[in-house]
Order: sequence, then structure tokens, then C-alpha cells
Amino acid sequence: MIKILVTDGMEKNAVNKLKAQGFEVEEKFYEREELKEKIQEIDVIVVRSATKIDKDIINQALKTNKLKLIIRAGVGLDNIDVLYAEKNGINVRNTAGASTNAVAELVLGQMLVLARQIKIANMTLKDGIWNKKNLKGLEIQGKTLGIIGFGRIARNLANKAHLLGMNILYTDLIACIDENDAYTCTDLDTILREADYITIHTPLTEDTRNLIDAQCFEKMKDTAFLINCARGGIVVEEDLLEALNNNKIGGAALDCFVDEPNPIKDLLQHPLVSVTPHIGAATYEAQDRIGMEIVDIVNDRFAIIKDMVI
Ligand code: MLT
Repeated sequence: MIKILVTDGMEKNAVNKLKAQGFEVEEKFYEREELKEKIQEIDVIVVRSATKIDKDIINQALKTNKLKLIIRAGVGLDNIDVLYAEKNGINVRNTAGASTNAVAELVLGQMLVLARQIKIANMTLKDGIWNKKNLKGLEIQGKTLGIIGFGRIARNLANKAHLLGMNILYTDLIACIDENDAYTCTDLDTILREADYITIHTPLTEDTRNLIDAQCFEKMKDTAFLINCARGGIVVEEDLLEALNNNKIGGAALDCFVDEPNPIKDLLQHPLVSVTPHIGAATYEAQDRIGMEIVDIVNDRFAIIKDMVI
């Protein structure tokens, strides 16, 4: 029987479907040392971001050569040594499009939270303070949204923001994809200088690690808002804190942090920062889509093996 280990959770329907198809599915988080043993017994591992599959873990799997497939339930592959796995015959797959809309909607939500000071309004009113006079906000219509990285999520967000009346600037390390004439492809510096809202949509790689640092904050408008629902590590958190403390930018919304699940406290508690605990893909709809995509990936992979045997 094909053994599938799901370490960081997966939608119930998808788990049940795999079981009904005859796969053995175990749902359990293994600490690193235990995982080194467990990985030798399984054919497939499904992870989100909490489980790290690095060279060490892959080497343990190679002792028995059972592991054939690593599935990332989500988009970012930065917690998996993809090159090393693939070089050693272990296929790595993600569910690339399933959470696109969920993340784009979270970014949009955070932009409105920042523009209308919704976080402060909430907190002060819950403390019994009718703070109406101090809560004059901004409208996003007519403002410029600067998007760093222009993949699926970024394009989905651009379409939504454009419909809400925003001007779209974007930059991409790979290419300018002129899907919509209304969007302007430009360089990072122009985005930093001109955008009212700057949102990051790149993967975390050696090219993007620490991309947004003190020099970038220096270039940004002092009213600009930074949104990071991509990955911790792309923004230098200490530099962001300093920029916020010195009013070099207007505020920030963060869904991702360098040290998850224990981000820097000063950032979490900063009055100009709206925070969420890495919930970009955490909608019922996205998790359903991710689960069903995983079922398809497992079926594709093992159907191919069955065909080869026949
Ligand atoms: C992703 O890469 O898809 C996101 O970080 C979602 C997640 O893992 O929770």
C-alpha cells in the first residue's frame, strides 16, 4: 500500500478521498529527529511551511529509496531543497494556483485596514474610547499600487485593485508581462519612490532575501504602506522597525515573518503595523482547492507507475 504522510494538516475531504482510493494516510506532525526515521517508511510526504525538507532529511529518505514524491500544500517551496530532491529522483510538486485568490484578497483587505486605520479603530473602541476625531483615513481609489514580483497572485491582485480605481506599477525579476496595457512595468526604484502601497509577491530566494532594506525605506514616500504576504526574510525586519519608528513610512501589514511562529514582538505590537499569522492561504475555498489538487497529484504520479508496471 502507498503510504502518505501529511505533516502540517490537509483538508478532511481530500484525506478521505485518498483513503477511499486505497492510499494509507497518516496525519501527524513529526519533530525533526523523528521525521528522519519516519521519512524512510513513506512514499509521499505532504507539507505546508512548518516542516522543513532539507538535504539531511532527504538523505535519510534515500537510505530506503521509498520516498517518491514531496508535495507542498501551497505555493512557496523555500522550506524544501527542491534541487537536491529532484537530483535524487524525488519529485517535488506544489499547488501553484489554488491559493491565488485567497492571498490577493488578504492583501486587499490589509490595504483597506491600513488606509482606514481599522486596526486602531477596533482596538481603541474595544477599550471604550470613541476615537472618531483621530481616525480620519485615506481612500485607495486613485492611489498607486506598486507590486514587486508579478506572478499569479500579483496579477490577480492587480486586476482587483485596478477595478477599485488604483494605478498599477509592477516590477518582476524575470520579465515584464504586459497582460494589461493599464499596468506599467518599471524598476524597483520607481516603485519605491512613487507607490502609495507597496506589496511583495516574490518567492524567497537568494535574490530576494533582504530585498527590502533601509535603503529602500529611505526611498519610499513617508506616507507609503508596505504589505508583505509573501515570505518573511524578504523584508529586513529591523530596518522596517526603524523606518516605522522614524516615520519614514506610513505603516505596514505583515502576514509573514522571519521567525515564525515567534516574530519580533516590537513589530507585532507596533501601532502602525497590522499583523496576521501567515493566513494568506487560509480560506475554506483555498484549502479545498489545495486538497483536491493534492489528490490529483498523487493520482497522476501513482497512475503513471501503475501504467509502467502493466
Ligand atoms: C504558501 O506558500 O502557499 C503559503 O505560505 C501558504 C501556507 O503555507 O500556509
